[in-house]
Amino acid sequence: MYPEFEQGDAASCPIHVIEQDKAEEWIASHPKAQADWLRNSGFTGKLGESCLLPDPDGSISAVAVGFGQAPARKRGRFHLAGLASSLPEGVYHLEADEMEAQAKSEFALGWLLGQYRFDRYKASATPKARLKAPAGVDADRLTKIAAGECLTRDLINTPTSDMGPDTLAGVIHGLGKEFGAEVTEVLGDELLSQNFPLIHTVGRASTTPPRLLDMRWGKAGPALTLVGKGVCFDTGGLNLKPGASMGLMKKDMGGAATVLGLARMIMSLGLPLRLRVLIPAVENSVAGNAFRPGDVLTSRKGQTIEINNTDAEGRLVLADALAFADEEPADLILSMATLTGAARVAVGPDLAPFYTDDDSAAGKLAEAAAKVADPVWRMPFHDPYEQMIEPAIADLDNAPAGGFAGSITAALFLRRFVDTAPYMHFDIYGWQPAAAPARPKGGVGQGARAVLEALPKLLSI
Ligand code: BES
Ligand code: MN
Ligand code: ZN
Repeated sequence: MYPEFEQGDAASCPIHVIEQDKAEEWIASHPKAQADWLRNSGFTGKLGESCLLPDPDGSISAVAVGFGQAPARKRGRFHLAGLASSLPEGVYHLEADEMEAQAKSEFALGWLLGQYRFDRYKASATPKARLKAPAGVDADRLTKIAAGECLTRDLINTPTSDMGPDTLAGVIHGLGKEFGAEVTEVLGDELLSQNFPLIHTVGRASTTPPRLLDMRWGKAGPALTLVGKGVCFDTGGLNLKPGASMGLMKKDMGGAATVLGLARMIMSLGLPLRLRVLIPAVENSVAGNAFRPGDVLTSRKGQTIEINNTDAEGRLVLADALAFADEEPADLILSMATLTGAARVAVGPDLAPFYTDDDSAAGKLAEAAAKVADPVWRMPFHDPYEQMIEPAIADLDNAPAGGFAGSITAALFLRRFVDTAPYMHFDIYGWQPAAAPARPKGGVGQGARAVLEALPKLLSI
């Protein structure tokens, strides 16, 4: 079950959101005992600070939560979401008439996302504080957005033993059933007969066969194709990752998880577009039949690729999927992938770097991202670096020596496989390294909410 707002009209406890510079005035407006209680508890309206107010009978009459001041608020997002997990079980409502609509919306979504727990392997779930949807927010939309995000988190958090290429395929078939989408699957050696050589090559060493999932939904409107990296585990292949780098690689299907979360948002909201989702689902494993450094492969599109590192596998499986996507007209092809460590060095875990050649699209996305507190940062498809992905003996090099501009060269590699449709690419991390408001430690979606918000402008719908 995904988090939802409290329905119906059960009695509920008010939550007052107090800006720091108005805190004293607000405190002073209370009867002496309550004002003293707030002061003695040290409540000053600092960002995220909270205080429960007692009734004379011992029940909780209200909750005060500090909203700090504008400059401090810039240092993060979903500042008040911690309430969802820290308040005692019960029903609450927001009492903040002066709060802007967007801040209310962020509060409400933050609450839902703050309730997320990955409790699949836990014997008991923790009791929860429940929120009535604040007046003026689009509760239905926020609930559907939260469900998409929670799907993404669940998929990333689930270890590969329960989320291999076969299980991921099952999830996509399930989504197809739920939303009336058509799903087809090219499985195992069919990848060879149907000309997806790179997907097959990367995935063939696993005991769970590689596959390409293709989901279509919607009958009319602009065509949006999402492509997600579905490497269910990345050992690095024969260029084996050291233990410390391999530890988190269950999350290497984070791109797939994030586009599936976005697809769930789009389908549940019934957006007027034709959606297609392509997921190459593989495991990059080690075995006698694994591909090797030095191998030269021929892609679906025909370019030859010299393998200089079997750990640069994501761009290979995406290359065939992107070429396939580009074989039919689309108004936008958008890929998401946990593609490079270099992207993490560049922007850290919190920002989602994205690439596009379309300045106007970049502007629309950045604006939407700021609005919905889903930060993105544009990176350049820097043409002069094209030469870095051109090796001596083949058309393309999957792992340029030296590693300069590793996220950019990976993005340039992908762009080689899209010739006709407008193309946008995200090099995401998909993981929250330490708990933050609305984002417990673990799998997290990046960029999906920003894209959803920008879609009406990107596709004129
Ligand atoms: N899945 C990794 C990238 C990655 C690593 C993402 C850590 C997030 C955290 C990807 O398949 C990979 O291994 N990339 C290599 C490419 C290199 C060999 C050119 C990398 O980034 O080191
Ligand atoms: Mn890799
Ligand atoms: Zn990978």
